Amino acid sequence: MVTTAQKAPEHSLTITDNRTGKTIVVPIERNSIPATALKKLARKQDAQQGDKLEDEVEGGLRVYDPGFMNTAVVQSRITFIDGEKGILRHRGYPIEQLAEKSSFLETAYLLLYGELPTKSQYTLFSNEVLHHTFVHRDLQEIMGSFRHDAHPMAMLESAFAALGAYAPEANPSLVGQNIYTNARTSEASLQLMDKQIFRLLGKAITVAAMAYRMRMGRQFVKPPAGLSYTESFLYMMDHLNEGSSYRPHPTIVKALDTLFLLHADHEMNASCAAVLQVGSTLVDPYSAIAAGCAALYGPLHGGANEAVVRMLVSIGSVENVPAFIEKVKRKEAVLSGFGHRIYRSTDPRSTIIRKVAEDIFAITGRDPLLDTALALRDAALSDPYFKERRLYPNVDFFSGLIYRALGFPTDYFPILFALPRIAGWLAHWRQMMLSPQGVKIWRPRQVYVGEGERAYVPLKERKERKVERGAEPSVVNHPTSTRVFLARESKL
Ligand code: CMC
Repeated sequence: MVTTAQKAPEHSLTITDNRTGKTIVVPIERNSIPATALKKLARKQDAQQGDKLEDEVEGGLRVYDPGFMNTAVVQSRITFIDGEKGILRHRGYPIEQLAEKSSFLETAYLLLYGELPTKSQYTLFSNEVLHHTFVHRDLQEIMGSFRHDAHPMAMLESAFAALGAYAPEANPSLVGQNIYTNARTSEASLQLMDKQIFRLLGKAITVAAMAYRMRMGRQFVKPPAGLSYTESFLYMMDHLNEGSSYRPHPTIVKALDTLFLLHADHEMNASCAAVLQVGSTLVDPYSAIAAGCAALYGPLHGGANEAVVRMLVSIGSVENVPAFIEKVKRKEAVLSGFGHRIYRSTDPRSTIIRKVAEDIFAITGRDPLLDTALALRDAALSDPYFKERRLYPNVDFFSGLIYRALGFPTDYFPILFALPRIAGWLAHWRQMMLSPQGVKIWRPRQVYVGEGERAYVPLKERKERKVERGAEPSVVNHPTSTRVFLARESKL
């Protein structure tokens, strides 16, 4: 007898549902299978077999993948990472070559439009981006209304959401939900899309500099003319009353530009997925970028550079490293700047960053925390706990030390990650809007494991009962109110 498996094409997967004996053949394309193919493995709900309505067995088999451990959500042409070999390429170009020969803005062009630009293409792009660095006057009031000690990421997130309010003509809710997806065929839509990209990239350095100046209690300055992208950013942060001839230090400009380039994209990371998730609703790109900032801010992602420096300061000095390593192994602390979902070898960006750090320290002097960082890295790399789990330094391990040496406040570090990553987010957003298949809203499934249907019980019939920890609202402390005492008394 010829079985289905024998007849199946070579690039396919044969799956038999042992509950029903049903076999399906699923095509394998680029070493992936469509998750929707599993929906064919449906069967009649059967209480005898323990099926619950909530298991939705008649809708077909679902893929359960908390944390997206093995789920591809897009087909992309932008960035490739081989986590085993420590390879990172943008549009086919190795990150090492780009870091050595390219600039942040040129790499942004590459990510967005697929090829390295010609001279005239680059001139047009950089002129457009730098032309759009000015922000509406009201932004000064919005940014100026934050407390001086507000976290700069809170300011950046808010600034992007606010910027959307100043571009009503670019808001699908106001002018038509297909204004960006129409860019596949409409010249006007394509122009509108690219204009928002220029605006977002241009205004990003201005609002990021405003967040810094708020933090430092300095007045905002106007974007300069005739400077490069990274120079303009540093100018807007640091310019005081030196006159318009003020120029940031060229070595610092070069180092920061390289850091920007290294952070420009990293395929489907948490913040990029957030941008695309939000973008898939066809909301305006300002809102999508604000969502990306929020996702990036977390200490497991772009907030790790800030966490690394706080960790190094708390360790204090080299002799405390072994005790800290033991704490991490007891799972009482995390070694920030180590580990990565995709890299199971050295993150190639961290190797380049280590070199940039030396260039910076040559000017600024060696940060004593570097010795602690190096001792920590060496201790982790030779310890079986980290070796077995294949944990290596990631991009954030050394970047924080460079930012610190350059004088950025610690809570400003995530901004220096978010700012260049906007280029990557926009490249993925643009790719999504131009997708020949159109945009499908990202609406994941869930596996419902809660209560089955039950009847409502009126309040007066509900009995007081002991509940598990976390299954009712916490009694929170209001030091200046009597409510907390009243709430406690009611529990006596
Ligand atoms: N310190 C201590 N233990 C760790 C660390 C770490 N930094 N990273 C992973 N582990 C352990 C983890 O506890 C787990 O142990 P066990 O098997 O005993 O439960 C094991 O290693 C496997 O973890 P994993 O599957 O690699 O974890 P993940 O892929 O879910 O998380 C990560 C990746 C980056 C969130 C995690 O490695 C981490 O928390 N690192 C510290 C934060 C950090 O540096 N983030 C920046 C990432 S790079 C920049 C970016 O793109 O955002």
